[in-house]
Amino acid sequence: MFEANVLEAPMQNASMESRAIPGTDSMPVSTAAELLPYLPESVGAARRFVRAKLQEWDLDNLVDDAVVIVSELATNSFKTGCQTRMLVGVRCPTDRIVRILVGDGSRSMPVMVQAGPDATTGRGLAMVHRLTHDRWGVTFLPFGKVIHADLAALAPTSR
Ligand SMILES: Nc1ncnc2c1ncn2[C@@H]1O[C@H](COP(=O)(O)OP(=O)(O)O)[C@@H](O)[C@H]1O
Ligand SMILES: [Mg+2]
Repeated sequence: MFEANVLEAPMQNASMESRAIPGTDSMPVSTAAELLPYLPESVGAARRFVRAKLQEWDLDNLVDDAVVIVSELATNSFKTGCQTRMLVGVRCPTDRIVRILVGDGSRSMPVMVQAGPDATTGRGLAMVHRLTHDRWGVTFLPFGKVIHADLAALAPTSR
């Protein structure tokens, strides 16, 4: 299953050129994660979890995008049909980044596809790609993988 350090796995990709939230230079790394069953209800639970954590950390301005991202990633994880539990995490590895993480027990690759105008599927990862400005990725693990997606922790007026 997911060990605590799984949340730190994609740190090597954690560079962003965005400005930090004023006054948060000494903000400690904040991390929160939970394990959820592979059930449709877990997608809503993942949304609520991420929203609550970001509000708790005074990052309300990121809630809208973060909720869309975790919704898409958790839905994809649910669709793998794994039998154990998916991991949903949110983390501030630096004061400039808010990282959403979703892990599942499947080693199948997430593949961003080019959905045609009439396609009814295939847009989830494209949304994640767009909302993160291409700052997302996959860390493969012996038992599955963790997908991370980074948002810039900008002050509300600079977005
Ligand atoms: N967590 C995942 N595990 C395995 N495959 C995934 C995962 N997320 C996405 N994929 C693959 O990438 C494809 C594209 O995902 P997405 O853009 O969300 O579109 P959709 O979910 O509508 O198919 C999926 O159809 C699936 O094949
Ligand atoms: Mg999807």
